[in-house]
Amino acid sequence: MKRIVIIESIPGPVASIYEKATRMVIGSYYSQVAEEVVSNLKAGTILDLGTGPGYLPIEIVKRSLYIRVDGIDLGSRLIKMAKENALKAGVADRLKFETGNAARLGFENGSYDMVISTGMLHMVRDPIQVLRECYDVLKPGGEAWIYDPAQVSAQIDKRKWKASFTFGEKIIYGLFILYAKINPPHIYSRKQVTEMIAATNFKEYQIEEAGKEIKVKLKKQKSLC
Ligand SMILES: C[S@@+](CC[C@H](N)C(=O)[O-])C[C@H]1O[C@@H](n2cnc3c(N)ncnc32)[C@H](O)[C@@H]1O
Repeated sequence: MKRIVIIESIPGPVASIYEKATRMVIGSYYSQVAEEVVSNLKAGTILDLGTGPGYLPIEIVKRSLYIRVDGIDLGSRLIKMAKENALKAGVADRLKFETGNAARLGFENGSYDMVISTGMLHMVRDPIQVLRECYDVLKPGGEAWIYDPAQVSAQIDKRKWKASFTFGEKIIYGLFILYAKINPPHIYSRKQVTEMIAATNFKEYQIEEAGKEIKVKLKKQKSLC
């Protein structure tokens, strides 16, 4: 089914429901992705696109004192949550969260050792532009790891999650389910992602399918001459 409307950002009222779900998979999903990231990069700066409530950056910096992560998201409510979560976890000094659009980053070219993103690609209006931005902000030899969709809903205990909803959240959840039925999220296939990459300057890449999740690893060439 074709998407009728594209809502890129998680709307403010849905943010608290989403945050409750992500909190339930810190140990099973974000910790595991953080381990993978830290095994690739021991020290440096990472940019997390569509950071949501910030649990992935938090798990990463907990695992290495030599890594700093900047996280951006279109949703200001989520960015506020990410800042609060970083303070609660005691790692706010190595994290920076800001509202921003992954398709218009505005950072200096070659600023980051790595770009990561979980669960954002299927939500963005212009995924090719996002991949081009990843290329620009990476240092030569840097890698962008784009995982999509994030394995959040597949891993949570849905009964426990729904039982935590307030009355208002139950109504919002009902509306959200209705919206998703009329306008289902578009999950990209390997072929579609390959075509997107071909429209960028990335020459080296790897695409892995793990269940419903697609893991795209892109590398910027070391020498650009
Ligand atoms: C499904 S959530 C995933 C959040 C987080 N990465 C995680 O794994 O929990 C997707 C996030 O991408 C954000 N987003 C969507 N389009 C964006 C864009 N163009 N620029 C920045 N953030 C975007 C949404 O606001 C939302 O928080």
